[in-house]
Amino acid sequence: MAYTEGFMYFRFPNFIKYMEILELQHTIHDETKQGEAFAPFTADPNQYKKRFYIESYGCAMNFSDSEIVASILNTEGFGATKNFEEADLVLLNTCSIREKAEQTVRKRLTEFRKTKQKKPGMLIGILGCMAERLKNKLLEEEKLVDIVVGPDAYRSLPALIEEAEGGQKSVNVLLSRDETYADISPVRLDSNGICAFISIMRGCNNMCSFCVVPFTRGRERSRDAYSIIAEANDLFSRGFREVTLLGQNVDSYHWIDETKNETVTFAMLLEKVALVSPHLRVRFSTSHPKDITDEVLYTMAKHENICKYIHLPVQSGSSRILQLMNRTYSREWYLAKVDRIKEIMPDCSISADIITGFCTETEDDHQETISVMEYSKYDYSYMFFYSERPGTLAEKRYDDDIPEETKRRRLAEIIEVQNRLSKESNLKDIGKVYKVLIEGESKKNSADWKGRTSQNKVLIFPKENYAFKAGEYAMVKVNECTQGTLLGKIVTPNPLKGIADILISKK
Ligand code: 5AD
Ligand code: SF4
Repeated sequence: MAYTEGFMYFRFPNFIKYMEILELQHTIHDETKQGEAFAPFTADPNQYKKRFYIESYGCAMNFSDSEIVASILNTEGFGATKNFEEADLVLLNTCSIREKAEQTVRKRLTEFRKTKQKKPGMLIGILGCMAERLKNKLLEEEKLVDIVVGPDAYRSLPALIEEAEGGQKSVNVLLSRDETYADISPVRLDSNGICAFISIMRGCNNMCSFCVVPFTRGRERSRDAYSIIAEANDLFSRGFREVTLLGQNVDSYHWIDETKNETVTFAMLLEKVALVSPHLRVRFSTSHPKDITDEVLYTMAKHENICKYIHLPVQSGSSRILQLMNRTYSREWYLAKVDRIKEIMPDCSISADIITGFCTETEDDHQETISVMEYSKYDYSYMFFYSERPGTLAEKRYDDDIPEETKRRRLAEIIEVQNRLSKESNLKDIGKVYKVLIEGESKKNSADWKGRTSQNKVLIFPKENYAFKAGEYAMVKVNECTQGTLLGKIVTPNPLKGIADILISKK
């Protein structure tokens, strides 16, 4: 049986297990959404003269960028469609983080070939990290591509489309030191109307040796704090009840408010967003262990509506490998950070990203990764085997010397450890009562609600006769669990409404 990369591994050996893991995954890199096309509801289908179709791959940042692209295209008279065959413009927002992500996009392009033959006027554009990495080369290699646009050049899309409509292939992959798209109001493409992403910064200055992101997304820059707060306020007033502040490294958010001559740190921003409303949940991703401060942890502890969950990628448990990865912390330093989180917020859940088979990794290094997992008791992890990326520091400096078979075997081993840790973590929740934000009906059963705890665990519970709606909070007692999901029962009516407001329609 073929293994695939990362936690996609689950898809083949055990589909049920895979589905459970997906329920447990948060929305940061959602495998269920990879490559899915999204389009918002429009009341008037004739509002737009042309149609665009967009598929997104990779991290939440890319999905969030697609919403900015949609907004830019709307103002140019393009409306979204979920059917690429009727589109005038087909866009793929791509990811380069691992080789497999790029292969997926190449394969997808061959599927568009037939449609383009039938409809020669249809334009095909590649956006995102693959566009940035491959630039003009992409036009040579993929003849049917008309437009190539890097992550900092989306404002030039209208001009590039015009050029391409005139028969000219067009490219803009300029990276910027200050583009944050702060003034563009994203069109929410795949929205449950409850949870939304807010991009707070772009790029990354960290230069982890395995990572292509600093090359594809450029230097780090932070978005104007006022525009972030305005976006959070707007989302709340439209009924959204959870925002996730997004950035490659949110803890290094740093914005100077020139009107007050004040520096806004990530902790300060987090507090400002939390103060939008106590009924708006705030999450963030991703943190770098070297940058998350006590100030951030205390701010999280202070505000009930800042979710008690931190995604804290470890990558490896071996100090020697961490140094080769240029992560700038040691195993001990990371473990001390885990201790600090638990000391300040004993109920905080932690997840991680882990890479197996990085250059020179020995069995002892691998065992050190397992022991960090055991110590940190991750509620879940995103696990990958190392995929060498052209142009990265690791590609230039080190030999990719671990056989693929070993990388995959180690990956399977850490997945097994994580499965056990996730199950143990869920078992500990049995008997506890959680405040759950209801996101919608359970996919498996319309008589059940699906919501999330502050710790980012999915909790499924029967609707019974309570008059709850999506976007409301319920107090739910956990009675059972699977590896990936908690199952419970409502114990008290909506804590944000008076009991008199609750309609219990017992006949
Ligand atoms: N190979 C495997 N995994 C990688 N990641 C980043 N680059 C690579 C690579 N070259 C993983 C890291 C990162 C996550 C987003 O993807 O774990 O945190
Ligand atoms: Fe890549 Fe490291 Fe930046 Fe994350 S922090 S995007 S892994 S370079």
